[in-house]
Amino acid sequence: MSVLVLGSINMDLVAVAPRFPRPGETLRGQRFFTAAGGKGANQAVAAARLGAPTRMVGRVGNDVFGPALRQALMEAGVEVSGVEVDPETSSGIAVIVVEESGQNAIVVIPGANGRVGGAELARLERWLPEARVLLLQLEIPLEVVVQAAERAARAGVSVILNPAPAMALPEEIYRWCTWLTPNEVEAESLVGFPLREDQAIEEAARVLVGKGCAHVVITLGERGCVYADRGGVRWVPAYSVPVVDTVAAGDAFNGALAVALWEGRSVEEALRWANAAGAISVTRYGAQPSMPNRDELMAFLAQHVETHRAPGS
Ligand code: RIB
Repeated sequence: MSVLVLGSINMDLVAVAPRFPRPGETLRGQRFFTAAGGKGANQAVAAARLGAPTRMVGRVGNDVFGPALRQALMEAGVEVSGVEVDPETSSGIAVIVVEESGQNAIVVIPGANGRVGGAELARLERWLPEARVLLLQLEIPLEVVVQAAERAARAGVSVILNPAPAMALPEEIYRWCTWLTPNEVEAESLVGFPLREDQAIEEAARVLVGKGCAHVVITLGERGCVYADRGGVRWVPAYSVPVVDTVAAGDAFNGALAVALWEGRSVEEALRWANAAGAISVTRYGAQPSMPNRDELMAFLAQHVETHRAPGS
């Protein structure tokens, strides 16, 4: 049984700068690098490095980045026979600025990811019988995500939908998602009210459970996450680490969550793993390069004491 990932594959072009430039401003940065990225591919790499047999379904473009992106997935241990080259377009590209605080701003050009469709759904369908968990995000066409979620749920596969980047979702999708993992901004766009207060965050988690997802986690960066199911809502603390680059922290979180669930671990343990993987990833630059392997995750969990922050503190 495997972890299946349907989603985006990007080349990230990253500038590290003291701060974000203002409109019209030219700012001198400190360094530039390229790194394999894309929310789908990052989550696949996270899952494979943490030890789950992981299969990626997606598209790269007919350009110099395509082979490099496939290669990066393979080197991480991801099975890539479901990743095809689209002869008619370029690979997905993300132009990223990371400022000194570790915060990031991203512009994504979908390229081949925007043409993911029926062919990928057919490949996915073929592999659903041997999958335990399907990871989905929103950097490929939304109608494909909805169909994939429905087909997986009907096949008895647990669906984790990481609804990133933020957008409105059709109501029908919630019932197909076993787990929904928005960050604060994404959750806000799903529930339609501001999440300024802790009570509003808790209410948002409850609303999303009410829409039909069995498990909802709203990730809150250094504050950890809020988890909700039909039994109630609870806060799960983050680990305190030095932050250099927050790109793909959510992907590390989702990849680790998938592996923990694939292994049949409890919700508590799965959330601890996910928080720890996210924490490790922000201590390093780059999307896929920042994903921890299993030994690193285990060592981190053994060494770190959780810093509990009560709601409102
Ligand atoms: O979640 C981080 C990812 O978002 C980056 O790797 C970039 O490619 C964008 O898709």
